[in-house]
Amino acid sequence: MRVLLLGAGGRESALAWKIAQSSILDALYIAPGNAGTKQWGKNVALNPLDFEAVKAFALEHDIQMIVVGPEEPLVNGIYNFFNADPSVKHIGIIGPSSEGAALEGSKSFAKDFMQRHGIPTAKYGTFTLEKLREGIEFLRTMKAPYVLKADGLAAGKGVVILNSLQEAENELTTILLDEKFGEAGKTVVIEQFLTGIELSVFVVTDGTSFKLLPEAKDYKRIGEKDTGLNTGGMGAVSPVPFADKAFMDKVLNQVIIPTMKGIRKEGFAYQGFLFFGLINVKNEPYVIEYNCRMGDPETEVVIPRIKSDLLDLLEGVWTGTLSERDIQFTEHAAATVMMVSGGYPESYEKGKVIFGLNSVTDSLVFQAGTVADGPKTLTNGGRVLAVTSYGKTLDQALHRSYDNLTKITFENAYFRRDIGKDLA
Ligand code: AMP
Ligand code: GLY
Repeated sequence: MRVLLLGAGGRESALAWKIAQSSILDALYIAPGNAGTKQWGKNVALNPLDFEAVKAFALEHDIQMIVVGPEEPLVNGIYNFFNADPSVKHIGIIGPSSEGAALEGSKSFAKDFMQRHGIPTAKYGTFTLEKLREGIEFLRTMKAPYVLKADGLAAGKGVVILNSLQEAENELTTILLDEKFGEAGKTVVIEQFLTGIELSVFVVTDGTSFKLLPEAKDYKRIGEKDTGLNTGGMGAVSPVPFADKAFMDKVLNQVIIPTMKGIRKEGFAYQGFLFFGLINVKNEPYVIEYNCRMGDPETEVVIPRIKSDLLDLLEGVWTGTLSERDIQFTEHAAATVMMVSGGYPESYEKGKVIFGLNSVTDSLVFQAGTVADGPKTLTNGGRVLAVTSYGKTLDQALHRSYDNLTKITFENAYFRRDIGKDLA
């Protein structure tokens, strides 16, 4: 099979690494990829949001499957674009239609979907500028802390949690009146604050049947002990010890199955990954958010735990034969730690030379924000690379990643030293 993978992050590095091992792969292209993805395929300078360019490339290179890494092309309708064009309709798109991707692209749509299908989630209200007064009244009926979410995609920055009512009222006004989040914030979801531990659960589906992938826990804050600003994710582990059989049975019966039934009932074309951002509140799962793609850095631990052929599985997704495909997992734990540019998630410098990439032997290095400069690899983003290791236990896996992290250096590099420590 000839495959085009869209995206450029650590998630796409892990997907490229795994797809490259498939016995049915003939060619792998990554658009645009990064300095690391070149190990597993050919990077192509394409913008995943330019569907005409993606189509032209796919036709020219006889691509049979396009695996979409990030959410934006999906929310913008890459599936719909290919499906509506007879010259490329045959090409398998791994990722949902824009209708399915709206589960991530619009928080109010996702909340209403959950309500329609009886899926546990925080109580909420939805408000636009015309309803600013009602929004403020609604806030006054809630207890601190106050959770405000911009409805649309806001690059992970659209959620604000505030401790005082006054701050919350001001923030709501700033988002709706001053358009703090632009178009994404024209609608705001106000939510009840839930207290518990978060975890990420993933399925891959052909729209009819689905397969559960290993669960993971992501560490979102920049600082140790979960302090400081939110980031894209600073590390991840899999499995998650508290996600035992009893808890995962609840996740399956109360969240996953009702969601899959809801998708079918509403008629969304959905062939791809679905990510459930969950919170465990006193042993009951609640949905914080849906994502229409794999997580980053969760992919860097979930995909390495799949033993069987990923491309065979994805072929099953596209041809509606997923139930006939086999999926196997390794019993080994996996941990990943992100190395980031100093200053991230605020301003940081790029273009630092990365040393030591080749001295890592018993871990996998999944590059994210990197670019090749002749023989050198330079930093090119906030999250630079993820170091993933296996272990008999999570502790072993973490030790291995931390050992290998000391071999890689670049100016102003930073990583959290406490990934997984809360679970040990
Ligand atoms: P989201 O972009 O929806 O994943 O939200 C970003 C982060 O905000 C989540 O990972 C949670 O840590 C936090 N968060 C979102 N919604 C809630 C909520 N209802 N209660 C508590 N924390 C929340
Ligand atoms: N790691 C969280 C996300 O990918 O959205």
